[in-house]
Amino acid sequence: MSEPALGFRSLDLVDPATFVDNDVHGFWRDVRAENPVYWHPATDNNPGFWVVSRYADVQALYHDAALSSERGNVLDVVLRGNDSAGGSMLAVTDGPSHRKLRNLMFSAFTPRALAEVVTNVQLRSTELVSAVVGAGCFDFAAEVAEQIPMNTICDLLSVPSADRRDLLRWNKMALSSDRADSSDLDALSARNEILLYFVELAEERRRKPGDDVISMLASAEVDGVALTVEEIAVNCYSLILGGDETSRISAICAVLALIENPDQWDALRTGAVDVDSAVEEVLRWATPGMHVARTARTGFAIHGHRVEAGDIVTLWNISANNDESVFHQPRRFTLSRSPNKHLSFGHGPHYCLGAFLGRAELRALLTALTTQVTRMELCGKPRPIYSNFVSGYDTLPVRFEMSR
Ligand code: HEM
Repeated sequence: MSEPALGFRSLDLVDPATFVDNDVHGFWRDVRAENPVYWHPATDNNPGFWVVSRYADVQALYHDAALSSERGNVLDVVLRGNDSAGGSMLAVTDGPSHRKLRNLMFSAFTPRALAEVVTNVQLRSTELVSAVVGAGCFDFAAEVAEQIPMNTICDLLSVPSADRRDLLRWNKMALSSDRADSSDLDALSARNEILLYFVELAEERRRKPGDDVISMLASAEVDGVALTVEEIAVNCYSLILGGDETSRISAICAVLALIENPDQWDALRTGAVDVDSAVEEVLRWATPGMHVARTARTGFAIHGHRVEAGDIVTLWNISANNDESVFHQPRRFTLSRSPNKHLSFGHGPHYCLGAFLGRAELRALLTALTTQVTRMELCGKPRPIYSNFVSGYDTLPVRFEMSR
């Protein structure tokens, strides 16, 4: 692919600082209008890639068999080469192997299978919010948002309580390469710790199965062949990768958006707007996973461009979720928005496996807030996350009050 000069002011979509230092929504608005699909030029040692911004195109490409996830589904990973988990981790496996693994894992994610986990989420949310009401200024990210998703995933996997602190610590380190003060080496060794931990747990559950997702994977067969402990470990880790940061960010974003839009908070608190509808608008507004990446398996044409086999293609959920041809006044936080067919959980064959759980976590949080809090206010500056993949804040200093 030759590198044509861009005929408009583009942003560097590889640089994490871009998403903190610029009016990204203004950028996407212009891109959707004038260059709905464009080739992002190569930067430093990174190759170029296609950028797809309109809702209709993003939605259609999620379904398109011309695109593969096996080299990775996150831009940074695909730019570096191949995802080492390609073909064994659900999110980065294509075709029939993906379908078989997904069917297997899906049985643990039905509303019925998750009933107990969801009850725990509700109890945990109620307790966490109750502990901070009237407690002065606190960091909502650390005291509440961070405590819910990892514990929920650990419940699903029956991770012993004593090990959860380690897992949380490793996961924070594994994600820290996205931060301004990052170290790639620390992040890599933390990821290895997590995988090793799950290999040991998979071996243990194979010997002594219980009633949890690891035991289910350990005793399952695909086409008559049992999964290896490495495959089990990588798919356990994928639940943390898929379900921890995304859920945490949407919870933080929910509280910030409700503080910044007091009319919407009042509507939610007084029951004028339905909690389920509010959950969908929080998910659209937050769009925790800004993009997914794919690699073209075969060439195809789009908006007068020719995508060649092997090209990297990025689908920008954050832009699609703010496409004014689908969402009226998209930069308004409107809890009663209907219809609200956002793409925050993706679309098509890789549609989020944990969507029911992600929604249940947000519903539990909003319910705990409306029943225990009357007034929420900021008492410091939220700290933005530096990333070209996840968008949001990792600290949120707030004060919650309940007027009697
Ligand atoms: C897939 C977002 C919560 C596990 C995805 C995808 C998105 C997404 C956009 C599609 C990726 C692609 O097409 O390449 C979110 C958001 C969440 C959330 C915004 C919360 C608000 C969860 C939870 C779990 C989870 C709670 C599990 C505990 C997964 C898995 C996949 C996935 C395993 C891969 C599915 C497949 O490839 O078939 N998620 N997710 N996610 N998510 Fe989520």
